[in-house]
Amino acid sequence: MDYKMQLTPEQQAILDGANGEAMAKVMKTLVMYGEAFGATKMVPVTSEMGHLVTSFGLGVMKPVYELLDKLIDGGAISQQKFSVDPKPLDPKVPSSFLQNFVFKKFMYSVQNEYDSQLKKLGLLDKNAYSCTCYMDEVGNKPKKGDILSWAESSAVVYANSVLGAKCNRNSGIIELFGSIVGCVPYFGLLTDEGRKATWIIEVKTTKKPEAQILGSAIGMKVMEDVPYIKGMNEWLGTELTDDVCAYLKDFGAASASNGAVGLYHIANLTPEAKELGESIIAENAQVYVIDDAELERVKNNYPVIWKNKDAAPKLCFVGCPHLSLAQLNEWTDNLVTGLKKSGLKKVSVPTVFTCAPGVKDEFEKTPKAKILEETGVILSYICPLMYMNNPLSKSMPVITNSNKLRTYTTARYYTGDEILEIITKEAK
Ligand code: F3S
Repeated sequence: MDYKMQLTPEQQAILDGANGEAMAKVMKTLVMYGEAFGATKMVPVTSEMGHLVTSFGLGVMKPVYELLDKLIDGGAISQQKFSVDPKPLDPKVPSSFLQNFVFKKFMYSVQNEYDSQLKKLGLLDKNAYSCTCYMDEVGNKPKKGDILSWAESSAVVYANSVLGAKCNRNSGIIELFGSIVGCVPYFGLLTDEGRKATWIIEVKTTKKPEAQILGSAIGMKVMEDVPYIKGMNEWLGTELTDDVCAYLKDFGAASASNGAVGLYHIANLTPEAKELGESIIAENAQVYVIDDAELERVKNNYPVIWKNKDAAPKLCFVGCPHLSLAQLNEWTDNLVTGLKKSGLKKVSVPTVFTCAPGVKDEFEKTPKAKILEETGVILSYICPLMYMNNPLSKSMPVITNSNKLRTYTTARYYTGDEILEIITKEAK
């Protein structure tokens, strides 16, 4: 078959089978994927590590595991180590007998086998399961300008926007293929043109916008386009401190899930906006103004899909994407203050905070870990979405401060302050 894409002699040789049939098929898939998006060439993946989106051993995905076996047997394993999204199960997270049965027997029934395939393919280590792989405690933080082969939408938008790396919103398996052959098709967010903003967002709020709602509003408006956001320096300053990065993590994940944003620029803050200023705004960019009323409108329009809208919450998830160490500390302090105010010793709603295994280890070395434990909150490394995506969990009244979790599940969204209020007051 003739391809329009210009390949280097090395890439052509892989396509022609010089490194075996499995590698040739991987290259062929990437070339076809690139051609579908009008890519003219392949460029090397330059990041030290990859990241995979598929972390769950879902029994029904048999063809995927067969494919991975073929890759392993054919010697087509990743050229770079990789991290992977969070694990789906943790015995510490409250679940009924029936839920447990469904999780283990029907849903994630081949988790151990899949974990061992990941190991053979190039998994970094047993702690590398988190969507916030770019955190220091996980160790997969790309450098500015690095070209990546990732797919996890919250990680892609963070890497592009906050770290200045370059990555398309690839799909699962395609991202593994890029790490296997060491190159990705050149299009979209890898190109200068594709990184230009086609939207100007003017934030004119009277207080710091809730990251999750701002991201949601922008995502729903611009969809997969690139926004250039003005008016945030008053609230975030001009430096990427730990607190600002945590805010941008949550903001970006909401924009990537409520819409399909893969890159945003924030004036005087994110690397490309700082370096290139308004020259990264495309001609004829559209304008979207966000004020207090607009954020209120967006929040009030979130559907509540609980069967009984007045049900008392049965479970609360905080940490989608996974919490940073600073966020864990802040939540612990706020919980203590909230509980003191209401005269309670423990949270009134079973609550799970989720974070990367490495962040959990670090937090557990500090005295705050015991304080958090005493509030009754469970600290886990799972992905709440994987807990929620089954009929039994779907019918539970679950609350969250994550707009991503709200979007993909029946969980009901509340702001961080509202969540704190709910879980630290006497249950009805
Ligand atoms: Fe991370 Fe799972 Fe949320 S992968 S962003 S915790 S849906």
